[in-house]
Amino acid sequence: MALRLGDTAPDFSAETTEGTIHFHEYLGDGWGVLFSHPADYTPVCTTELGAVAKLRDEFTKRNTKVIALSVDGLDSHKSWIGDINETQNTVVNFPIIADQDRKVSELYDMIHPNSNENFTVRSVFVIGPDKKIKLIITYPASTGRNFDELLRVIDSLQLTANYSVATPANWKHGDDVVVAPAIKTEDIPAKFPKGHKVVKPYLRMTPQPNID
Ligand code: BEZ
Repeated sequence: MALRLGDTAPDFSAETTEGTIHFHEYLGDGWGVLFSHPADYTPVCTTELGAVAKLRDEFTKRNTKVIALSVDGLDSHKSWIGDINETQNTVVNFPIIADQDRKVSELYDMIHPNSNENFTVRSVFVIGPDKKIKLIITYPASTGRNFDELLRVIDSLQLTANYSVATPANWKHGDDVVVAPAIKTEDIPAKFPKGHKVVKPYLRMTPQPNID
């Protein structure tokens, strides 16, 4: 059965460009991003892995480990990394799973046969410290991902994990947030001392609570 939000991210052991990884152990107490790409030595994937490498500090700030996957082998991954580093002007600094036996791809339903039987699609899973799946996004092979959007969603997930708020459309770090419907309007001042605005009884806004 396909994985859904709130499911436990299946654990696995796999060979990667940084050695054997036991997934849950690798994630430790932090957040994780597991993302698949269709194939090595392809143009869009080359730009994607380069883009992720350049965002290393942003993922680290968010206590988030990144791990990539395709069904190509370890030798292919390792020599392709040279091309990524050269053409994208970066250093790939995260492991890439060599999923030749498709064990992980099948566990995470990353091969969509009506799209292509031989490739993984561009799947993204964000996994929380509790090992539950917090986000699933699937892109087609022809569309490179927006990894700034992924960071934006991680910011929202980490904020809403700790405060009774939700983030509105197009929210980004620093913008006002929505007070969760479960909070009564009369209880807002105690919970959100920075202030709030009642736009409608069901739409109450407050400054982002976890920044100065
Ligand atoms: C690419 O990464 O460029 C790509 C991979 C598979 C199909 C189409 C594009």
